[in-house]
Amino acid sequence: MFTSRHIPRLASLATNARFFRNPTCPKADVIRAKEVPVVSFKDGERASVDLPIDSPGLDPVIPPGVDVKQVAYPLAPSNLKGLTPTLKKFTLHGKVAVVTGGGRGLGFNMAQALAEVGVKGIAIMDRQQDVGEAAAKELSEQAGVDARFYAVDVRDGAAIDQAVHDISDHFGQIDVLINSAGIADSNIKAENYGHGMFRNLIDINVTGTFLVAQAVARQMIKNKTRGTMIFIASMSGSIVNYPQEQSAYNTSKAAVVQLTKSLATEWARYGIRVNAISPGYMDTALNRVPTLDAQKKIWIENTPQKRLGAVDDLNNLAVFLATDSSAFSTGSNYVIDGGYTLW
Ligand SMILES: NC(=O)c1ccc[n+]([C@@H]2O[C@H](COP(=O)([O-])OP(=O)(O)OC[C@H]3O[C@@H](n4cnc5c(N)ncnc54)[C@H](O)[C@@H]3O)[C@@H](O)[C@H]2O)c1
Repeated sequence: MFTSRHIPRLASLATNARFFRNPTCPKADVIRAKEVPVVSFKDGERASVDLPIDSPGLDPVIPPGVDVKQVAYPLAPSNLKGLTPTLKKFTLHGKVAVVTGGGRGLGFNMAQALAEVGVKGIAIMDRQQDVGEAAAKELSEQAGVDARFYAVDVRDGAAIDQAVHDISDHFGQIDVLINSAGIADSNIKAENYGHGMFRNLIDINVTGTFLVAQAVARQMIKNKTRGTMIFIASMSGSIVNYPQEQSAYNTSKAAVVQLTKSLATEWARYGIRVNAISPGYMDTALNRVPTLDAQKKIWIENTPQKRLGAVDDLNNLAVFLATDSSAFSTGSNYVIDGGYTLW
């Protein structure tokens, strides 16, 4: 503990000119090895090698994400047999997932990831009929899952209840929920924001998240399913984005983070876990609008990794949170943003 008897010692340090006057290290004090000795063992056999150091450093600049159409591959049951206990915890063999906003973008990509780790059924809930249907078709064709599409608007509590009952009746269970449906209104100054627009955004991003979570939780509680929920919030729930003005969106995502924490505590007694993912700027249709082109350059410049997130950059975190590999995590908010919020 720091006490007054330390003060003379600090005073003597303060008078030590070298200690305070020269904040940069003299060259002779810099430790800079010419090589790194590495000792490795394979089948008990020792081998060693010296790695020369000649590069001044890594180039942190990675090109922006490209629009690659991802394909999901099925996890064959025979592949499960050889998995180590740690890898086994990353699988969802025989489980059933609901993904809102799963028609496209981050939701669809996370649905593909769940398919790749063994879910037997996926229900996509989206308000866009065409993309929703196409998503379910692809999941079924590519990964062999029993995929269903529900044309549901997440503002519509009655439609959600009906869909969730049907999902539960059809599959007999719901184990995982990913709430990815959401909208963003950018570049609207707060003083000009229409009342109806503000209410609508909060209704989709916040109320919609709650209504779906509530309907799914009721089924999980009834069936005694120790389920997992993942809410897609945003780094905008913890920071204010620059340069675009988007007070409604930022507010909605802060609410999603707080909703995550609140529901996590309430539903822990049923074994239901609720966590949030807060992405940074991602390269999805949400951001692929010409009016955002100039701002996108600023976002990339302000991201230490110098790129937007790719559409599948959330996948493995979503799998972690959906599976027993994160069994002791609930009410947490996982920021995944290429380092944006560090600066
Ligand atoms: N793209 C980003 O940079 C970014 C960053 C942080 C957070 N997020 C969040 O991630 C989530 C997914 O974003 P995305 O980039 O994949 O967007 P996206 O627009 O590509 O996909 C969103 C999907 O949600 C659906 N949807 C929208 N409103 C709905 C409603 N009322 N009812 C049902 N479905 C509805 C859309 O039809 C669409 O298929 C959103 O919640 C978004 O706020 C995105």
